[in-house]
Amino acid sequence: MDYKILVAERIKEHVDLELEVISKLIEIPPRPEMGDFAFPCFQLSKVMRKAPNIIATELASQINKESFERIECLGPYLNFFVDKVAFSKNIIEKVLLDGDLYGSSKDGEGKNVVVEYSSPNIAKPFHVGHLFTTAIGHSLYKMLSFEGYNTTRINHLGDWGTQFGKLISAYKRWVDEEALEKEPITELLRIYVKFHDEAEKNPELEDEGRAYFKKLEQGDEEAVALWKRFRNLSLKEFNKIYDLLGVDFDSWAGESFYNDKMDDMVKELETKGILTESNGAKVVMLDEYNMPPCIVVKSDGASIYATRDLTAAMYRKKEYDFHKCIYVVGKDQILHFNQVFKTLELAGHEWAKDCVHIPFGIVKFADKKLSTRKGDVVLLEDLLSEAVAKTLETIKEKNPNLENKEDVAKKIGIGAILFTYLKNSRERDIVFDWKEMLSFEGETGPYVQYAYARANSILLNAKDITGEADFSKLTSKEEFELAKTLEGLNKSVLYAIEKLEPSILTRYVIDVAKAFNKFYNAHHVLNIEDEGLKIARLKLIEATCQVIKNSLNLIGLDVVEKM
Ligand code: ARG
Repeated sequence: MDYKILVAERIKEHVDLELEVISKLIEIPPRPEMGDFAFPCFQLSKVMRKAPNIIATELASQINKESFERIECLGPYLNFFVDKVAFSKNIIEKVLLDGDLYGSSKDGEGKNVVVEYSSPNIAKPFHVGHLFTTAIGHSLYKMLSFEGYNTTRINHLGDWGTQFGKLISAYKRWVDEEALEKEPITELLRIYVKFHDEAEKNPELEDEGRAYFKKLEQGDEEAVALWKRFRNLSLKEFNKIYDLLGVDFDSWAGESFYNDKMDDMVKELETKGILTESNGAKVVMLDEYNMPPCIVVKSDGASIYATRDLTAAMYRKKEYDFHKCIYVVGKDQILHFNQVFKTLELAGHEWAKDCVHIPFGIVKFADKKLSTRKGDVVLLEDLLSEAVAKTLETIKEKNPNLENKEDVAKKIGIGAILFTYLKNSRERDIVFDWKEMLSFEGETGPYVQYAYARANSILLNAKDITGEADFSKLTSKEEFELAKTLEGLNKSVLYAIEKLEPSILTRYVIDVAKAFNKFYNAHHVLNIEDEGLKIARLKLIEATCQVIKNSLNLIGLDVVEKM
C-alpha cells in the first residue's frame, strides 16, 4: 500500500478535486510532530468558499481513520499520522517481495532515451573529468533502465579531427615504437606535445598536419591504417578502466563514425537556407540569440567538432527515435551545445528541444601528491589503483582475517571514488581528498558500504529468519523512522531522473545508512527473548540491506557482503 495514495483517496471521498490534484498538494511535514503527511486546504477554500482552517477542522472529523493513528487539523493544514506498525509492516513486506526491483515504478516504459557519456579522446589520457561524465552517465543509465526506459548508451569517442593529421605527422617523425606498444597513450601524448613545440619554431608543420588530416578524410590507406592503430591502442587502455568500473556501452560510434554522413547534413542546412559564408567558412549566424556563429565547415573545407555533433544528433534521432538525448559533458562546453541545439532548431527539427546537455563541475585535488605523475594530468589508473591500495591497507589493519580482501578493497575503493563524484549536485566542483573520501565515517561510500556489511552480518549470524514476525512490536521511533526512509526509494529515483541528478540518490542512500545506524545503536536484535520481535527486526534489517543494495547499484556501486 502506498500511504500517499491512501491519504489522497481518503480526502477524495469528501472533496471535489481530482485524485491527481490532491496527490500533488500533499506535503511531507518538516517535523515528525506534525505528522507523516499534510494536506493544505487553501486550494479547497476557493472551491468550497470557506476559510481553509474551517475546512481542515471539518475534514478532520469526517475522514475515515482506518490505517491511521490519528488525523488532526493544525490551522489550514490537515495532518495525517500513519499507524506506525501497519506502515512498517507494509513497507517491509513490499521491499522483501519486490527484491531487486523494489523502488521501480516502471515509469519510463515505452520511451527511448539516449545517454551519451564518457567520450574520451583517442591518443589522449582518460582524465578525472572523463571519469566524472562516466560516473554520472553510468548512473543515469542505471536509473533510467531501472524505471523501464529503453536506454541506449553511447560513447562518442573523440576519434576524428585535425589533431589526427598532426599525430600522423608526429608519428612519422618521432615515434618510439617500443614505447608505443608499452604505454601507448603516454607515447602518443609525448609526440603530440612535441609536434606543438616544434610547430612553434616551424609553422610549416601545421600545414603538414592539415594535409594528413585531409588524406585521412579522403580515406588514404596509410593514413587510415595509422589512425586505426592509434584508436585500437587507446581503446585497449580505456577498456581497462571501464572493466574496473563495470561500465559498458551499446554504441561506440565516435566522431569518426559520422565522416561519411556529414555531407548530407551540410546539404540539408544549405537547402534550409541557414548557412552563411564567412571568410571562406560556412557558418550558422546566431547573433540574434547572443551566441557566436556555429562553424559548420572550415575555410579549408574540413569538418569541425560541431559538424560531427550536428550529424550525430540527426543520426541518433533517425536511428533511436529518442524521447530524450542526454549529453553528459563538462560545463566548459555549455556554449558549444547551445550552438548545436539552436542550429538544429533553426533547421526545423522540433526534437532539438529533446536534446539536453547535462553539465558537471571541475575536479580539484586537496592533496598535492595526487595531482600529477607526468605532465599536469592525473592519470586515472593511478587514482583508481591508489584508492584500492589504500583501502586494502585499512582492511588488513582492521580485519586481517577477512576472506577476499582484494575483491573487497576493489569494490570499496573504487566505490569511494564514484561516490565522491556523485555526492553533490553535479555542477559543483569537486575536491578530492583521500582522507575524507576513504573514511568510514561521514557521508562517504565506505560509510554506506559498512552499514550494509554490518546489517548483512547480523542476518548471517541469525542464520534462521523463517519464524513468524510480530510486526506489532515494532513501535519505537527508530524502527519507524528507518521504515519511513526505506519507503522513499522510488520517490528519490523519480526525482533523480527528473533532475538528471544522481546525487539525489546518493544523498538518499546516506539517509538510509544513517537511519539504520540509529536503529542499530538503540536496539538489540539477536540477543532478545521475544522471538516475534526478533524476527520482525531481522526482516526490517533484511529490507534495509535490499534498499541499500538497490540504491548503490543505481549509482554504480557493488555492495560487499562482509568487511
Ligand atoms: N571528446 C570530448 C572531450 O573529451 C567530449 C565529447 C562530448 N560529446 C559530444 N557529443 N560533443 O572533451
